Amino acid sequence: MPVDDCHVRLAVEQDLDAIVALWKEFMKHQTSIEPRFKVRADGGQYFRTWAADALKSPRRTLFVAQSSSGELVGYTLLNVAGSIPYYEPQEFGYVQDAFVLEPFRGKGIGWKLTQAALAWFKEQGLAYAMLHVLDKNERGVAFWRQVGFDGYVHNPRLELI
Ligand SMILES: CC(C)(COP(=O)(O)OP(=O)(O)OC[C@H]1O[C@@H](n2cnc3c(N)ncnc32)[C@H](O)[C@@H]1OP(=O)(O)O)[C@@H](O)C(=O)NCCC(=O)NCCS
Repeated sequence: MPVDDCHVRLAVEQDLDAIVALWKEFMKHQTSIEPRFKVRADGGQYFRTWAADALKSPRRTLFVAQSSSGELVGYTLLNVAGSIPYYEPQEFGYVQDAFVLEPFRGKGIGWKLTQAALAWFKEQGLAYAMLHVLDKNERGVAFWRQVGFDGYVHNPRLELI
């Protein structure tokens, strides 16, 4: 599917079921590449509330990618995040989720969603954007590098039990 056939727009309440379904696929993807990444069995309910709030909050937003047949094939969930008070700037853009269904990857849809995300952050007056990506997510790491994100902080983890 050429990317021009896929439309990126702000999400609306009617999209919530489809966004939750995309989130479930995203979580499956994450847990398949990093077994230490775990999601609660009832996580979908929490995500749904979180996503529904994002539709109403001025500090969060959701963009979806919709195919010409009307199917939602990807989404990105964004926050305005706060820094610890003695850092500046006080706020930055945080990409909480970015996901495209497997058959639709590599067609520029993630790129389009991300351009919408970066434009939204700029509209909020934010000076920079950040995100977390699993070290094992080689495709994800490469994608963010292509978009222009560069390594800034390493986020090591140590198992205690
Ligand atoms: C990471 C992910 C969101 C990227 O989405 P995608 O639709 O597959 O990516 P795109 O097709 O937009 O980008 C792929 C390539 O096209 C490039 N590209 C696409 N549109 C472009 C444009 N208009 N101009 C310049 N480059 C472009 C990208 O930079 C990238 O380069 P590559 O060819 O070297 O790979 C998607 O692969 C995914 O959902 N993966 C699983 C979930 C995941 O890992 N999410 C991120 C977690 S942090």
